[in-house]
Amino acid sequence: MREAGRAGRAKRAGRAGSARAGADGRRGRARWLCGALAAVLACGLGAGPGRAEVELPVPPGVLPPEVPEDNPLSAAKVALGQKLYFDTRLSTDGTVGCATCHNPRTGFADARGRTSAGVGGALGPRNSPTVLNAAFLLEQFWDGRAEGLEAQALQPLVNAIEHGFADHNAFVAKLRGLPEYRPLFREAFGKGAITAERAAQAIASFERTLISLSAPIDRFLAGDASALSAAARRGWTLFNGKARCNNCHGHVESLPTFSNEDYHNLGVGIDKLDLAKIERQAQAALARGESPEQVVAGLGLPDAEASELGRFAVTGELQHLGAFRTPPLRNIALTAPYMHDGSEATLADVMELYDRGGNANPRLDGGILVLELTAREKADLVALMRAFTSDDLQRFDHLKKLVAD
Ligand code: HEC
Ligand code: HEC
Repeated sequence: MREAGRAGRAKRAGRAGSARAGADGRRGRARWLCGALAAVLACGLGAGPGRAEVELPVPPGVLPPEVPEDNPLSAAKVALGQKLYFDTRLSTDGTVGCATCHNPRTGFADARGRTSAGVGGALGPRNSPTVLNAAFLLEQFWDGRAEGLEAQALQPLVNAIEHGFADHNAFVAKLRGLPEYRPLFREAFGKGAITAERAAQAIASFERTLISLSAPIDRFLAGDASALSAAARRGWTLFNGKARCNNCHGHVESLPTFSNEDYHNLGVGIDKLDLAKIERQAQAALARGESPEQVVAGLGLPDAEASELGRFAVTGELQHLGAFRTPPLRNIALTAPYMHDGSEATLADVMELYDRGGNANPRLDGGILVLELTAREKADLVALMRAFTSDDLQRFDHLKKLVAD
């Protein structure tokens, strides 16, 4: 399955046009497809525990998110996952849940600061991405270090500055100490123990329901020109032309996240480091046969600086120094601040970054050029970004009440 994914992604790299074929290929083979591409997809009808139906609001023509064969969707799992997602007791100091940093009141992202605070108020180096539509992403995190939502969900639990547990056993011990979870796990998974893997499967199932693909841009692309303001329409022309946004955020009908899911260096953060020196040290360490993890550790950088190495820490490829995954653009107006480090406060600031051709550094992506946009053109692009906000988000209003004030 992952081989298909890699081949698909390689095919998709760069151009939105080829992205479609790649995306279709990657999902066509292995996905757990429980119905034709219908307006509403009904899943989870098999026998076994928690077999009630779950409907994912995937519009016609859009490939449904990948669901691993060993974690079919069920209503019981989604309900359990939702409870786990909002439960702040599942952290070492009892104050942090997934919703602390992926808050439904702020577009399922974190508006508290540039980066997110976890247990004990400790600040991490990165900005929280939204989990809305994360189900469509093959590789999770800004550097893509987790494949799939299940693998992703296991990480924050044992991150020292997120949920804070020393290991998954410590998490499970706390979970088992909350008796109300026992029947919920039984309903979702049948007999057997409460495990971190099952908790992650339930959380991933809940996240798969956080789909929102109904924005003015969608109606515009379906042929309703009046769905966009004149400014946003000009923005769309710029997006696909002079401003070159579509090189990385191009529209793909079957996978409309506005991300090529590839990794690029825009110079955000890495411009503050001596990259030439880092690269020399990294090259020597790689020549000694060190793993990416060892190379990064050997550089001896403080956490915040090591974070700027981006995708390099996952692949050990020098071309990935300072590269981060192209983020999806849906609901982007709701999820300020921006970039992997939250360094751009507003969408207008983001347009300034692109206009000046990113931040200079030795590994700047070849696709980032000085744009020479006028003030009106930058405003038009911001107007376009606002047209990426879904108007069906009231579907999640009931979740806002589950977040502690
Ligand atoms: C203390 C804040 C914090 C907590 C708590 C937290 N996250 Fe995150 N989350 C982040 C940050 C920051 C990132 C980006 C980190 C990175 O890319 O290195 C992230 C990334 C993600 C992503 C990847 C999205 C994408 O676009 O790649 C998902 C999915 C996610 N978190 C889900 C969860 C779940 C599920 C939980 C609870 C089990 C959780 N998070 C708990 C801050 C948090
Ligand atoms: C070469 C690929 C590329 C091009 C071209 C590009 N982007 Fe991006 N975009 C990215 C990457 C990669 C990031 C994240 C960079 C980081 O955090 O270091 C990003 C981040 C963003 C963000 C912030 C998203 C968030 O969740 O914080 C917005 C908004 C955005 N881009 C819009 C645009 C617009 C509008 C254009 C055209 C003017 C554009 N991008 C052109 C790759 C690209």
